[in-house]
Amino acid sequence: MNKKIGFIGAGNVTKTVISGLVEHFEGINQQIYITNRSRMKGEELRDLYKVHLLDSNEDLAQICDIIFLSVKPDIYPKVLPAIQPYINDEKLLISVAAGTQIEDVQQYFNEPKKIIRIMPNIAVTVSEGMIAMCCSPQITRLDLDIAMALLKSIGRVDLVDEYMLDAVTCVSGCSPAFIALFIEAMADASVLQGMPREKAYQYAAQTLIGTGKLILEKNIHPGPLKDLVTSPGGATIEGIYVLERKGFRSIVMEAMEACDKKLKAMARK
Ligand SMILES: NC(=O)c1ccc[n+]([C@@H]2O[C@H](COP(=O)([O-])OP(=O)(O)OC[C@H]3O[C@@H](n4cnc5c(N)ncnc54)[C@H](OP(=O)(O)O)[C@@H]3O)[C@@H](O)[C@H]2O)c1
Repeated sequence: MNKKIGFIGAGNVTKTVISGLVEHFEGINQQIYITNRSRMKGEELRDLYKVHLLDSNEDLAQICDIIFLSVKPDIYPKVLPAIQPYINDEKLLISVAAGTQIEDVQQYFNEPKKIIRIMPNIAVTVSEGMIAMCCSPQITRLDLDIAMALLKSIGRVDLVDEYMLDAVTCVSGCSPAFIALFIEAMADASVLQGMPREKAYQYAAQTLIGTGKLILEKNIHPGPLKDLVTSPGGATIEGIYVLERKGFRSIVMEAMEACDKKLKAMARK
């Protein structure tokens, strides 16, 4: 893969993606070009990963084959008209902005372009992200393979239809906050039982990672997994009984439904 990869905006997402790419593909830093509004932030990233820092988004759009639009959604109206003349039918745009649809990006161009929209979650910073990806009809199998190969360096990549992105945002974008709350609550309970706090976080977080891996890597359904740890008349079923009595599942479902409603209301504004 000898394509030139550009990042407009050198913020958190760009830093994470570049860090994953540099770790997984030796020498790829030579193919990476970045821009940023404030020069200093761009220089920091340039020096950290030995990538090329350019002076303008227009230069980047001219040089690069794959262009990550890695600025906040309200900056798109500034960036896209400026780079529009340099985006030919071969260039691949990867849009990262939350809530910005593929057709919102297409409207800046006279003809439909190759656009991939991605929704990464916070865990990409430790290369364990969940990344949903959807494509404009102009994307070829080869474009898709290239984008997937790049993004796999920061997590698990899944191709979805764009209508599913609100559900994706709830289950992988918002839910790290819910899961953090769950870990904190479990750790508080362990502290109550006499465990030092740092140890309690370690046990709770690692148990969560391990349970996730069991489901993904061993392909175990969550129901039978629960049954495996729940011996008759034992301690686990006592805990499950309390969770069910207090409506644990419906609380989680209602929380996700509230997120979904809010996302849809924000999109309508
Ligand atoms: N962070 C997440 O977990 C996450 C998850 C999913 C999606 N996203 C989406 O990813 C995008 C980037 O998020 P982020 O967290 O990386 O934001 P960020 O850290 O604020 O980075 C955005 C960068 O864009 C730069 N910038 C602003 N105007 C620019 C311009 N005209 N030309 C070039 N660079 C410009 C900013 O520079 P200055 O700081 O100098 O202004 C900043 O470094 C957003 O659209 C967000 O919705 C983020």
